[in-house]
Amino acid sequence: MITVHTVAELREHVRTARQAGKRIGFVPTMGNLHAGHISLIDSANSETDYVVSSVFVNPLQFNDQSDLQRYPRTLPQDQEKLSAADCDLLFAPDVDEMYPNGQAEQSIVHVPVVSKGLCGGSRPGHFDGVSTVVTKLFNQVLPDAAFFGEKDFQQVAVIKKMVNDLCMPIEVVTVPTARAEDGLALSSRNGYLSDEERQLATGLYKTLNEIAEALNHGEQLDKTLAQASLRLEERGFRPDYVEVRAAADLSPAAPGVSEVVILGAAFLGNARLIDNLVVTLNRGIV
Ligand code: PAJ
Repeated sequence: MITVHTVAELREHVRTARQAGKRIGFVPTMGNLHAGHISLIDSANSETDYVVSSVFVNPLQFNDQSDLQRYPRTLPQDQEKLSAADCDLLFAPDVDEMYPNGQAEQSIVHVPVVSKGLCGGSRPGHFDGVSTVVTKLFNQVLPDAAFFGEKDFQQVAVIKKMVNDLCMPIEVVTVPTARAEDGLALSSRNGYLSDEERQLATGLYKTLNEIAEALNHGEQLDKTLAQASLRLEERGFRPDYVEVRAAADLSPAAPGVSEVVILGAAFLGNARLIDNLVVTLNRGIV
């Protein structure tokens, strides 16, 4: 695997691969890679011929400066993992390479509607930062297909709408959430958990599954969500949100809708964990 740090070098390598007739796959990340990220590399390898990944902790998408400062940066280990997973090219720019005119002067890509509420509600500006950096990365790499994790369900919805609205000629592929044996969704933020918190952390996924079960038994939505919040508190979390939306477009889950996604975000100690569960309800929302 080759590592490059500048857009010019990146473009040169990708151009050579494209000229050799290769289909280009792209996996953007913020590094501190785990098996969830590697599953995206595996998907990219199975669907494309030349896999590019990026590691860039994007300051534009952090609404909380202390969160940005402490975000784990582990480039040498990330390089090893990507290389072992047969990634072809790693792009690891610094902040000046990505924002040469400074962040304040950066043109912003705003994706309306799907970026509202959920994580967009609790992290103001977050999705503008994501859609802007992903647009830049797409224009730098010019991939045929890009791979994103279902774990960040709202992020995928934002990227898909952006690609569609702005006619970007890129296939967006969604990869299922990789989980630990106890169900916890793998995340770079799990590293913030103490041993004791790590034991409790599976409670978020458990709660989402309990919501699915209650709705399948015909329980009323508002009551179910209120109970779920209480259950999260009992399990040691500070709930941020628990919601049920239509899986197709994240619109509010109206009565009768059966293809839904149950989304939750909650703090456990210092870590803000998110997860979601896509379900087909046997009798729809009541
Ligand atoms: P990051 O959190 O590093 O995640 C990079 C990609 O890995 C995202 O598509 C995310 O959904 C996916 N991912 C994370 N955990 C996963 C898991 N347990 N199973 C499957 N996929 C998982 O998401 C970002 O970075 C940034 O917002 C980015 C898109 C790179 C823009 O800066």
